[in-house]
This record gives sequence, C-alpha cells and structure tokens, in this order.
Amino acid sequence: MSNVAVVGSQWGDEGKGKIVDWLSEKADVIVRFQGGHNAGHTLVVDNITYKLNLLPSGVVRKNKISIIGNGVVIDPWALLNEIIEINKLGIKVNDENLYIAENANLILPVHKELDEIREDLKSIVKIGTTRKGIGPAYEDKVGRRGIRVMDLANKKNLSRKIDTLLNHHNSIRKGLERKIVDKDQLIKKLLTISSEILKYSKPIWKKLAEIKKEKKTILFEGAQGILLDVDHGTYPFVTSSNTVVGAALSGSGCGLDTINYVLGIVKAYTTRVGEGPFPTELKNEIGKKIGEKGKEFGTVTNRQRRCGWFDAALVKQSCTISGINGIALTKIDVLDDFNELNVCIGYELDGKKIDYFPSGLQDQLNVKPIYKKMDGWVKNTIGIKKWKDLPENARKYVSFIESFCGVKISSISTSPKREDTILLENPFK
Ligand code: GDP
Ligand code: IMO
Ligand code: MG
Repeated sequence: MSNVAVVGSQWGDEGKGKIVDWLSEKADVIVRFQGGHNAGHTLVVDNITYKLNLLPSGVVRKNKISIIGNGVVIDPWALLNEIIEINKLGIKVNDENLYIAENANLILPVHKELDEIREDLKSIVKIGTTRKGIGPAYEDKVGRRGIRVMDLANKKNLSRKIDTLLNHHNSIRKGLERKIVDKDQLIKKLLTISSEILKYSKPIWKKLAEIKKEKKTILFEGAQGILLDVDHGTYPFVTSSNTVVGAALSGSGCGLDTINYVLGIVKAYTTRVGEGPFPTELKNEIGKKIGEKGKEFGTVTNRQRRCGWFDAALVKQSCTISGINGIALTKIDVLDDFNELNVCIGYELDGKKIDYFPSGLQDQLNVKPIYKKMDGWVKNTIGIKKWKDLPENARKYVSFIESFCGVKISSISTSPKREDTILLENPFK
C-alpha cells in the first residue's frame, strides 16, 4: 500500500475532512502538517457531525494513530479543549493514539491578541483572518523566538525564551499603546497545562521512520487550500503557512519517497472566506442560492462564505503547483438545481487573454473570467454512489473538469455523509 497526501486545491473548505475520514479506513496513521486551529474540518458519520480543528480527521476511527506534525502551530488550550469535546462524543483520544511533534511551535494568548489588534486596526489592510493567532505564531517561528512544545519541559529555559519573545511583543504593544504582557502570569498559565501537553510530545520524524519501516500506511491531511498558500496564493490575502504538498514533508519530517499519491480536494464550485481576489465570485441571487444549498458558513468563525462558479483555470494551476495526481470532487449535489452552469477556463487581462492566474494582487483583482457554458442536470444526485447513476450532464461536467485540468477524477462526493462517495480510482494503489 502506498501513502497519500490530501491537499485543498481552492481557498479551503473543499471537504477535506469528509474525504480524509473516508480514506482513513485504509490508513494506519493520519498526519496534520501545517496550519492550526484556523482549520475547520467537518465529518458526518452515522448521523453524528464532528467538527475538527487541530485533530486529524482520522481520529474518529478506532485503531488509528493521529499525528500533529512540527509544521502545525498549536494553541495548547484549544487542543486540550478539542480533546475534551471529542471525548464527550465517545471518541477516545489519549497518548496512545495521539502524538504531537515536540518541535511544533505554540500559539500563545499574545499571538491571538496581536491577530485581533491588527484585524481591527483601521490603518492597515484587513485580511479577514480567523483571529486565532496563526500569522503572529508563524512570524515568531521564523523569527526564531517561538516557544515550542518541548520548551514546556524545562522551566529555566522556558523563562529565558519567554524573555526573548516578550521583548519583541511588548515593544510592539507599547507602540500600539496596549497593556504589556506579564511574564510571570504567562509562565504560570503555561505550566498549568504543560504536563497535559507533554504527554503527547514525541520526535515525530523518528516515529514516522518507524511507521514506514513497519510498512504502515500514512495519510497526510492538509489544511486550508493552495490559493491560501503563503507563496502561491492570493498574497497578502493568504494564511501564513505553505499549504502545497511540499509542506507535508517539511511539516512532519520525512523524505520524498514517503508520498506516493497527491490527492487534491476540489469543490464543484468555488468559495472563499475573508477578504481577497475571487474572479468568479457571484454577488447575486445565484451566489446566494449556492451558499444556501451548500450551507456555506465557516466552521471556525461562522462567517458567510463568498460563493462563485467553478474556476477550472485556477484548479488546473493548483494541480500543477502541487503535483496533484488525482482529484476528489466534492459537493456536486449542491449544483443539482441549476439549468445552466458556468466554468471559468481562462481570463482576460487588459484586453488580452491569459490562461493562468497572475501573481500580482492588482492583476488578480482585474482579471475577467472567460466562461464556458454547460447545461445543468436538474436532477437529484444526493447520495449517489455509482458513476453510472449520475445524470448524463453531471458526468459531462465532471469529465470536462478532468480533461481541462489533465488530472484523473479519483472520487466524487454526493453528500456530507462518509458513505456517499463514488470511488473511481483508489489513491492507495
Ligand atoms: P474542509 O475544511 O475542507 O474539511 O471543509 P469544511 O468541513 O470546512 O466544509 C465542507 C462542508 O461541506 C462541510 O459542512 C461538509 O460536511 C460538507 N460536505 C462535504 N462534502 C460534501 C458533499 O459532497 N455534498 C454536500 N452537500 N456537502 C458536503
Ligand atoms: P480549512 O482547513 C478557509 C482564511 C481566512 C483568511 C485567511 C488568513 O477549514 O479549509 P488565518 O487565520 O489563517 O491567518 O486567515 O485564510 N482561512 C481559511 N479559509 N478554510 C480554512 O481552513 C482557512 N484557514 C484560514 O478566512 O482569509
Ligand atoms: Mg473548513
């Protein structure tokens, strides 16, 4: 059996949680490798809805190992709370089935506060973040002043590291006329939860090497989507991590040979939460109808997601950037009631046709989508489990996406439920 990496291929919320849960039947180990609790992954199993933020989406199945890799930024209080909540739903999470990387960086209250301060400042560009402290925590990581999981084990070292961290943050806070952070209080707060967190802490690179040796199957679960990638996304309206498949290796500590198949999760239309360019956005009744049918409200912030037509040019670009081998197409059922559908196949910029999405913000805002019109199917697809049972026009829509992007459609999801999925090509070959 081979190992699979799942990545979101649009602006997040493509249905990664559902697909990872469905695929994890065939995996032994499920690994999150970037992002933090800005992610909201929803699974529906036996009519119970699970909303996961930091825990990998394989967690609801028995006898699986869940790993949070070094590339994830961990809010320890959010993690412990999530474990309590999922335990209440009858899912057992303990130090035998959850491992977290000892070298993962922590999100501290000071990060969340800075995220919020910036989002509320009138004088700088509002990104529309999840306000969870993700950006500031990653900034401290690359700034080499972050606090990592293993730092909780040594009070003296922790104290020195917090000095460095607060030296930076309190200067900013003074400049913004905010109350400075009290070191002793922060240390006390951290030491209260340190043993609870440290019990999950491991050298994950070493664990993964053992897991590979034992020929166990690994499923990597990306968060966010390629268009939110800090390099390849709609910068600066992005998250602060790399969301492309390369992050699965650096964010867990394993080599190129670990991943055999990259599965891109693609929603049958487009959504985005927060600010930023969105060429196929529909600020009209059609967009509203998609949002209502697709229940497009953010899992983390409950914000209404912006909705638009499927952007095949963007997805094709994501497939190239992340080396996607197969597409899991989700939420096709949401398009059941449309007589006509539009699919973006390129753009017009300053009177010229272009076949890719440019990197510059101004160009991204100025491009006009070029649409191919397709007939809708106006038939129910909810719960369909076989390709041949899909209406002919739905099959045409899927086949067009496959041929335009030049990537095989590996599966099609027809409802939020685990079992309502059509398998066309098994990623675990
Ligand atoms: P993620 O962040 O990529 O895991 O996606 P979210 O969980 O944030 O958002 C996807 C939403 O769509 C969730 O509410 C899922 O339950 C739901 N969903 C997933 N697949 C399907 C599908 O095929 N059809 C419908 N109607 N809903 C789906
Ligand atoms: P999942 O894993 C959709 C968006 C935010 C904002 C930008 C930066 O559920 O697909 P951040 O808090 O990361 O600094 O916010 O990124 N964003 C997401 N949008 N799905 C997500 O995760 C997201 N995580 C962050 O809305 O525009
Ligand atoms: Mg989500």
